Amino acid sequence: MNRHVFLNGKLINREEAFLNIYDHGFLYGDGAFEGVRVYNRRIFRLEEHVARLYRSLKSLAIEKPMSPESFCDSVLETVAANQVESGYIRISVSRGVGLGLDPKHMKDAPPTIVISTEQLSLYPASMYQNGLEVITASTRVPPAVCIDPQIKSLGRYINNIAAKMEANRVGAGEALMLNMQGYVAEATGDNLFLVVDGKLKTPPTSQGALPGITRATVMDCANELGIPCEESVITLYDCYCAEEAFLSGTAAEVIPMVQLDGRTIGEGKPGVFTNRLIEEFHKRTETDGPVAW
Ligand SMILES: Cc1ncc(COP(=O)(O)O)c(C=O)c1O
Repeated sequence: MNRHVFLNGKLINREEAFLNIYDHGFLYGDGAFEGVRVYNRRIFRLEEHVARLYRSLKSLAIEKPMSPESFCDSVLETVAANQVESGYIRISVSRGVGLGLDPKHMKDAPPTIVISTEQLSLYPASMYQNGLEVITASTRVPPAVCIDPQIKSLGRYINNIAAKMEANRVGAGEALMLNMQGYVAEATGDNLFLVVDGKLKTPPTSQGALPGITRATVMDCANELGIPCEESVITLYDCYCAEEAFLSGTAAEVIPMVQLDGRTIGEGKPGVFTNRLIEEFHKRTETDGPVAW
């Protein structure tokens, strides 16, 4: 049941949900988005997702369509209308309709808002059990002076798609992306964590990592479990020599990474820390976030 779509303030039938051909999101990738998960009718960390969306929109100087509280209500309403038990919510907001890239001509154009629900499983179950084989992509994360990777903008993802295609070409499950200085930023749609000397390490957002909601959840889990965790500049050497590694993201959840560029990480299977954190993460999905219906 994913029959209803929230489009510009109204819940309508999916078959009737059309966008203007001159929407700036479609023409120029001029907008921002969120991917959110529903677990047992509960929208995981909804407020945090909407807060990040609003930060993205602020950075892009896209007028906020409504208060964050009303936005959360619209997401809840969409999930309830579609009776989603567990699934994925896609939220997209563009600058609105206008031909020509200059936003000056769009002063009166309201932003376009779409909220839809889907079923999504990113990787096969075997990859969660055995771990992912990953490569390092030649495609880099852009520096903040070009497209700030902290903004979850529509347009930036052509880069991530290029990196994902590199992984596909060699049959790898994912690709790690470096920043322009050669430090590890993240994967194409996930953040990276390493276990080094029994401590958790993850690249800081200043190195090109998206401020992931799952990343923040993993950090909370680590805190709860008494596992030290720090943001740290990470090189490929650190990844190859780590005791354990895993990726985190809304779509992927938490997934072990057992090989990188042909090097086996740790013992080549999901490690003890990773498994404890995965277990704790799944517990949080049962409690964190409002119930939609
Ligand atoms: C580039 C990128 N990095 C990391 C993430 C993980 O972020 P989150 O845990 O908020 O889904 C995502 C997915 O949203 C992403 O697109």
